[in-house]
Amino acid sequence: MSLLTKSDALIDLTPGRTAGNVWVQSDLQLGKPELARQVLAEAVTDMTNLGEPIDAIWCLGDALVGKNLEALEQVAEACVELLEPLGVPICYVLGNHEMDLFRETGVPRFPLYEQAVERPLWHTMDRLDQPWFERRCFGSRVVFFGDHADPDGEWCTSHHQKRIGPERYPYGPEVWRQLRDEIADVHEPVITAGHYAYPGGQRPSPLLADCLPVPDTVRLHMYGHAHIGDLVHNGERPYQRDNPIKGQSLRQYNISALETARTAGSHSVLLRFQNGLPTRLDVRCHLEHKWLESFELNAHPTPAGS
Ligand SMILES: [Fe+2]
Repeated sequence: MSLLTKSDALIDLTPGRTAGNVWVQSDLQLGKPELARQVLAEAVTDMTNLGEPIDAIWCLGDALVGKNLEALEQVAEACVELLEPLGVPICYVLGNHEMDLFRETGVPRFPLYEQAVERPLWHTMDRLDQPWFERRCFGSRVVFFGDHADPDGEWCTSHHQKRIGPERYPYGPEVWRQLRDEIADVHEPVITAGHYAYPGGQRPSPLLADCLPVPDTVRLHMYGHAHIGDLVHNGERPYQRDNPIKGQSLRQYNISALETARTAGSHSVLLRFQNGLPTRLDVRCHLEHKWLESFELNAHPTPAGS
């Protein structure tokens, strides 16, 4: 059975277009709803004031944090109210902190996911237990990875490894290796994005280790979770956004974090596409209202016959 969506069945975020910009963000991760709303509002205002088109938004996890359901619902509401006015598709994956409530209390509630599956502008896994979902964007296939959980509360992942009910987790290494092999066979450029890095990046995913080597069809990977400037949890390379994938020349980029409590600044990126390929990644600080870094994405040649 094929794990990937057939090319002609992929939902397209930007139909008929091959150039534009995606706002990629993660790790809002503030427990006080009023502060989360303020930080996200500042980021939205900063991005919209640029006057550049934003054609899609990708939220790479840890939008929420903590086990206070009422606070989680308020932050989820803020995300909806602040992002939807941009009027573009919003892709969302869960991070480890979306699992806080379930892990600590056993209550399987995920307020932003519950909003995302119901709202027309939002894109996420059809079911909470799916380890990835795919969309087309400017001609590239995008595979989004995040933490996932059994809707009935039997198991979940966190930090992209088995946590609750590990003996019931259904996706063994063979599934991830099959996914890698199928990605190698697609006839279009692939981008992967998620809450976690492949090995070689900061705070990498154990599950994605079974996807190595990342196939040549993949142009880049972006991840959150390893907040830039976090000297406690990201001490090895705290300020490095451009990271290798273990044993490969392909690069992966740390795009986090929006939060302003654990690290200085409030950061996200604008991913630019031209001619159906990702071409540049610009890192923005929404508190300083300035660009911090820029990475040219030197896409390798498209394999012959594709
Ligand atoms: Fe995280």
